Amino acid sequence: MIVCVRLTMMLPVTRKQTNEFMSRPLADLRSRRWFADAGMRGFAHRQRMQQMGLRREDVLERPIVAIVNTWSDLSPCHAHLRERAESVKRGVLLAGGMPFELPAMSLGEVMVKPTTMLYRNFLAMEVEELLRSLPIDGVVLLAGCDKTTPGTVMGAISADLPTLFFAAGPMLSDRLLRRGEPARTIGAGTHTRMFWDEYQAGRIEPDEWVRLEAKMTRAPGTCNVMGTASTLTSMVEALGLALPGSTSVPAMDAGHTRLAADAGERIVQMIWDDLKPSRLLTAGSFRNAVAAQMALGGSTNAAVHLIALARRAGVALTLDDLDRAGREVPVLANLFPSGDRLMEDFHYAGGMPALLNRIRPHLCLDALTVTGRTLGENIAGRDSLDDEVIRPLERPVSASGALAVLKGNLAPQGAVIKASAASPKFFRHRGRALVFDSPAEMNARCADLELDVDENTVLVLRHAGPVGAPGMPEWGGLPIPKKLLLQGVRDMVRISDARMSGTHYGSCILHVSPEAAVGGPLALVRSGDEISLDLEARTLQLHVDEAELAARRAAWRAPERAATRGYTKLYQDHVTQAHEGCDFDFLQGPPTTAEPSIY
Ligand code: FES
Repeated sequence: MIVCVRLTMMLPVTRKQTNEFMSRPLADLRSRRWFADAGMRGFAHRQRMQQMGLRREDVLERPIVAIVNTWSDLSPCHAHLRERAESVKRGVLLAGGMPFELPAMSLGEVMVKPTTMLYRNFLAMEVEELLRSLPIDGVVLLAGCDKTTPGTVMGAISADLPTLFFAAGPMLSDRLLRRGEPARTIGAGTHTRMFWDEYQAGRIEPDEWVRLEAKMTRAPGTCNVMGTASTLTSMVEALGLALPGSTSVPAMDAGHTRLAADAGERIVQMIWDDLKPSRLLTAGSFRNAVAAQMALGGSTNAAVHLIALARRAGVALTLDDLDRAGREVPVLANLFPSGDRLMEDFHYAGGMPALLNRIRPHLCLDALTVTGRTLGENIAGRDSLDDEVIRPLERPVSASGALAVLKGNLAPQGAVIKASAASPKFFRHRGRALVFDSPAEMNARCADLELDVDENTVLVLRHAGPVGAPGMPEWGGLPIPKKLLLQGVRDMVRISDARMSGTHYGSCILHVSPEAAVGGPLALVRSGDEISLDLEARTLQLHVDEAELAARRAAWRAPERAATRGYTKLYQDHVTQAHEGCDFDFLQGPPTTAEPSIY
């Protein structure tokens, strides 16, 4: 029995009906506080709009729509978003609104050092304050590359204006042809890692390795596997904040441009209906997002971001909720890295509406969405068009679930593992630890052919968490030591307080919480200690007796923090732990910040 907490009354189905029943008068619009003011301030606001060539009535008589755009010249996944912003504007204007494009931090995943995760909260703050400080009535968020999705949505939740998320869309698939071999369809991320391992093992020649640089990422758009980007945009669709079916449309498809206009048109009606995040985001909508994450075989990063989003919305969501869903909802989307297809295939098969339709029994179908309809209404009749890509419940890609949460004396607050991308032989495992304190040490030692390691060793990386790194980078896919790569080993148990790229695969236990840098038990592990995991029992244990652990704990000293100033210091001082979503402690919870004075 699914209990869905609904904070709102159900909106009628059609736009005509929503106009009849829910529309509010022009005088209620937030932007009127700026532009309809009778004093000198209002004069100045209107005057400055006219300075840009706009007419007085353009801002006085229309809802003002912000298009928050995470485009930049250093964000390849978002290279097309400037053009899409123009299509959104077209839709806004056609619907009687007035659009304004606002640039926001772009966070191109592969370019930003040390990690985009360090800046997710920065982007969230930027979006929240942009929307709060300017005369905005509603917003379309243009984002998609990994942290840009949770960053923009977290900010919009806290600003609580009508919000519609428009995904950058996945890049196109590519094909690899080798003489004498069948053609292979390849995509970004997962294939890069597979080819890298082959290259390291000497199975790819240097000239082919160079040629591969031009493969896999053949067009603008986000990584086309079920990595973090696709996971998060799909989650946002399941939450009800994106148009149905929009998040899987390829970035370079003409349909993507048409959808941008639809988004612009729809946000205007959402403003009239005051359809804002606090009316859409409920325990039920988060339940839908969690169920979708499991059916997708989505990125482990979703665990951190979903909890952060829920806390912003005032919804209690914990790792235990995710673990429960992981046991109940099988992986149905046959997409890399859990399966063997790409996002383009997922789109052709029907995308999120078809997937959600397959898991209807696990959903809160009366959750309200940006369409003004319920999720159940949005997905009605949307069947999978390809059962190899979106599998039926009785023939899942993996019955073991996308994500499992392990707990024990090594991770009292939890750690996560992407079970569907791990080797079943490691679901129950005990081995001796080999500990690294930094990625530099790890990389140097893993290149050593004399390293004392075998395939049963448990590799441990610590000081890679939210505070320790800082920013909890995607270092959790620890490299297989070269000595073992040459022997053909492709997977081992690896444990860290880091995250892992959603495009990665392997038996990696991540997000160990609390992290080593704040005194979590990971800080106490020594090479040679025995560690065990049991996926079925959901345990992660360090086999060292309590007296010895107490002695180590007493001797432990917190590592010195590198940052003494600026944003990084703010981050280290206020970031919460992985099981709490890694938001800033002062940003969690429903919005309470007052509207700015216009004086
Ligand atoms: Fe942008 Fe993967 S690098 S989505």
